[in-house]
Amino acid sequence: MQIDFRSDTVTRPCPAMLEAMPAAEVGDAVFGDDPTVLELESFAAHLFGMEGALFCPSGTMSNQIAIKSHTRPGDQMICDETAHVYVYEGGGAALHSGISCKLMHGDGGRFSAKDVAAAINPDDPHYPRTRLVSIENTCNKGGGTIWDFDEIRHISSICLEHDLRLHLDGARVFNAIVETAETPRDFGEVFDSISVCLSKGLGAPVGSLLLGGADFIKEANRMRKAFGGGMRQAGYLAAAGLFALKNNIERLADDHCNAERLSEALAVSSLSGNTLTPETNLVMFDFETPEALTSAMERLSSEDILTVAMGPRRMRLVTHKDITDEMMDRALEIIGNL
Ligand SMILES: Cc1ncc(COP(=O)(O)O)c(C=O)c1O
Repeated sequence: MQIDFRSDTVTRPCPAMLEAMPAAEVGDAVFGDDPTVLELESFAAHLFGMEGALFCPSGTMSNQIAIKSHTRPGDQMICDETAHVYVYEGGGAALHSGISCKLMHGDGGRFSAKDVAAAINPDDPHYPRTRLVSIENTCNKGGGTIWDFDEIRHISSICLEHDLRLHLDGARVFNAIVETAETPRDFGEVFDSISVCLSKGLGAPVGSLLLGGADFIKEANRMRKAFGGGMRQAGYLAAAGLFALKNNIERLADDHCNAERLSEALAVSSLSGNTLTPETNLVMFDFETPEALTSAMERLSSEDILTVAMGPRRMRLVTHKDITDEMMDRALEIIGNL
């Protein structure tokens, strides 16, 4: 039995989701007449209380379309040094949008409104024009950490004051939502754009949604075409996305419980290092040396437990809907016997 903790992107569609896909009514989504894509987009826009949504092939593309739509070449974006948009998107912000990043040294990927205020460049031609702030919630590299919503509101006020746009990389925003009192509409109120992944914890095979105001979505639609992200009979995929939004949000809380159990087992295991207390579904364990990391990952892999390295000393385990109770029992037993 293989136990795949590498990512929540490894999830497979469940039989009911698979059944919904071929039954979808489709059209040509680039012409704007695929009814299932339109239904998914309006369902998501309504959920977040935003004017529009755009179905995109990936989270990377929806983030990059957002950056491109909000900025002009030469502008600057404020984001954390660990942000997916900065670290893991192939330098896309520079490549596609010609912008630079002002990096925050946040706590688990979270920075403060005070940090943002201090990072805004003066209106002086020597400096790049600060145009955009990007927040990641939950933060992947930070260990699935959740932002304090009051801090987000403060950042939003600063953005309004300085005419900056505010983007949310909400690849895992529902993991934050199930753990806190905030609703999708709270997020929709404060952000100019939100990217949400359907193919992570929500279990769809492909796809992300980019949400925003009507003018933003119009521009983003143009950019999606230019990026090569216009998909034709995408309704088959959108049907999986709709199923995910209607059925797979609440259950994310189970993944968080499993992450806690894994983290506790690692903390009392023979492995020497430090486990970060998980806030959602990402478990991070820091070893003392890179050799200890490699050796632990190899030992786990020899028992068919797959993990990934996040940096030279850090191991990441991600819980998700395809981790069964039986897999959890087995994983805890193996970790206990290491
Ligand atoms: C926080 C975050 N944003 C964006 C992405 C990109 O998503 P995709 O793999 O669909 O391009 C990921 C993927 O892991 C992520 O963790």
